[in-house]
Amino acid sequence: MIKQFLAGLAVLAGTSPVALMAQDDIEGQIDALLAEMTLEEKVGQLTQYSSFWDATGPAPQGGEQEEKFEQVREGRVGSMLNVVGRDEVRAVQELAVEDSRLGIPLIFGYDVVHGHKTIFPIPLAESASWDIDLIEQSARIAAVEAAAQGLNWTFAPMVDISRDPRWGRVMEGAGEDPYLGARIAVARVKGFQGDDLSADDTIAATIKHLAGYGFAEGGRDYNTADFGTVTLHNVILPPFKAAVEEADVRTAMNSFNILNGVPATGDAYLQRDLLKEAWGFDGFIVSDWASGREMIDHGFAAGPRDAAELAIEAGSDMDMESYIYRDHLAGLVESGAVDMAIVDDAVRRVLRVKHELGLFKDPYRYVDDPDQEDILMSPDHRAVALDVAKNSIVLLKNKASLLPLKGGEKVALIGALAADKDTPLGNWRAAGETGTAVSVVEGFEAAGVSFTYREGAAVEVGEAGFPQPVVVNTTDRSGFDAAVAAARKADKVVLVLGEDGLQSGEGRSRSDIGLPGVQQELLEAVHAANPETVLVVMSGRPLILDWADANVPAIVQAWHLGHESGHAITSVLTGDHNPGGKLPMSFPRSVGQIPVYYNYMMTGRPGPLENEVFWSHYNDLPNTPLYAFGHGLSYTGFNYSGLEITQGGRSVTVSVTLENTGDVAGTEVAQLYLRDPVASVVRPVRELKGFEKVMLEPGESTLVTFELTDAELGFYDPYGNFKVENGDFEVYVGGSSAADLGGSFTWSSN
Ligand code: BGC
Repeated sequence: MIKQFLAGLAVLAGTSPVALMAQDDIEGQIDALLAEMTLEEKVGQLTQYSSFWDATGPAPQGGEQEEKFEQVREGRVGSMLNVVGRDEVRAVQELAVEDSRLGIPLIFGYDVVHGHKTIFPIPLAESASWDIDLIEQSARIAAVEAAAQGLNWTFAPMVDISRDPRWGRVMEGAGEDPYLGARIAVARVKGFQGDDLSADDTIAATIKHLAGYGFAEGGRDYNTADFGTVTLHNVILPPFKAAVEEADVRTAMNSFNILNGVPATGDAYLQRDLLKEAWGFDGFIVSDWASGREMIDHGFAAGPRDAAELAIEAGSDMDMESYIYRDHLAGLVESGAVDMAIVDDAVRRVLRVKHELGLFKDPYRYVDDPDQEDILMSPDHRAVALDVAKNSIVLLKNKASLLPLKGGEKVALIGALAADKDTPLGNWRAAGETGTAVSVVEGFEAAGVSFTYREGAAVEVGEAGFPQPVVVNTTDRSGFDAAVAAARKADKVVLVLGEDGLQSGEGRSRSDIGLPGVQQELLEAVHAANPETVLVVMSGRPLILDWADANVPAIVQAWHLGHESGHAITSVLTGDHNPGGKLPMSFPRSVGQIPVYYNYMMTGRPGPLENEVFWSHYNDLPNTPLYAFGHGLSYTGFNYSGLEITQGGRSVTVSVTLENTGDVAGTEVAQLYLRDPVASVVRPVRELKGFEKVMLEPGESTLVTFELTDAELGFYDPYGNFKVENGDFEVYVGGSSAADLGGSFTWSSN
């Protein structure tokens, strides 16, 4: 029992248990506790088990639940994941606290990624809001709800930058840009962790997956990643570093992939040299699911004992579901292969975070108040979820102002996803209940839109529940005729097409990222019947929308928006909410263009050269994406003018006048891009270095200013050294990465 332990410590320390409990000397308490622990108990703190109520990987043999709970009683487990529910958490915590020798509490982790009970838009969608405060609020609410159900640790945010929409996990990140990604990583960590980690409604966050997991070759999940160190330091690592330095994230997770031939779990450079040493991270690192054991499959470890040695030496502190520490770490220490100091450091890190969470003072602090659960799905939480959902929607195209819908128009609402109450919940829906999202049909009804609904074509058939793969309908066109007939009779068609909620996410890579199944055919048939068609796309990734872009007058990117999906989409279609979202990821014209991203490096043959062959291009496609990073329209227009650059001291100020030129109020994300035309390392053609979200009334204008300092002007060389070089720079300001209002300045740090 913890009380027995404290009493024991009190005797050692010559003070009363109560006084000891009140002590704030965390490191001193940890020293005393470490001195009490056996080697097996230390290894226990570094072992994490899943309850198997939910899981993302194959369960190794011998992982029976009861056996695991027995080990909790023996003090041989430090953490559980996938224990869901207040009573369940309490039951397992009691095993550790009441039955184990020292009574060290467990820390309970879960993938609370975009909401816990109230489901928010998928992270990629939220990132399209470019609204840092809202994103922080979303994570805050997720933490409040998760904590109310006994959890004290989320495996989020995923901060992996990715340039490949085939990779199913792009839905879980902030897109392709390290600057935006870093701002969002900081916001999410702050939201989860709050101001005081020991409060009852804050939980520890995890930055993952260190590092390069989003660069899986071919977009195939768990595949090899291969990139140079300039990309590592300038593109992949910035969100991790920002989360450590600006938000004091308490845990990190390593990744399944290799980096320069070394599996991340066995990579001391990433985990020790960078994260722990250079960035001063004093929380702990958890492995990804069985990633320690998988070093054997990589051909990097000879067996589980070798894997355990490599992982602990490299700085992977806690082992998730590999069993390699449980089975081999004590033996490695006893044989002298692993130094006890390494194990002690890992245990110290785990105990530190548990202490910070307040678990030593009260192991039941997250489960002792039944009233805490009253806030689950509260009206306040739903209101924020609606706000985030509205702000996440991106208007990709709106020819001749087809949108918003005008009152009195007869609308044909078509597509299975329009009535789908599950898909909008997306992947990683934590405790969100299946089939509980507001559908577009319900949104239309609530807003009093007059419409006829036809399904057209089911998106998926068969069992689509977790974790089965979604089986896509490629044969059933029986709903087409009714859909086409309804389209003919309507003034306008709203066609809701896209991906099932479980077609993106972990293990859900796709090679063809067009509209799944027969939906493209449905789109073409309906559009032929009535060209006044609005396409609403639900998806967990950028889809290939080239045909739609060439033919359909209006396209709305509505992602998977969580519980309030139908209300949010309706408010945009009716003009009740003027869309202001901007793409956090480029939309390719075709799969063959991938990776296509805005901050690419200039080649030696950049072109374009008219009627020439020998420059870097495709013979059958432009180099540009269909929709650029940062793109997003509004029902009003915005004009940028009067770019001015002033230099003073150690900074450069860039200002522009932004005007709302239309006749409705609207929100614009003004974006600043920087180019360093000549440097000692080849630099991208442009890089986002500032943005500001501004709301303007019709005819209103405002001055938007951006400040550039060393942090924005510099870059990392191939060896990870940060450099700021003198010379000329160019800036561009506008409403997307294609911004063309530019200026230049010369920087000299002398
Ligand atoms: C994923 C992690 C996740 C873990 C636990 C793994 O398969 O890669 O991101 O946190 O499972 O569910």
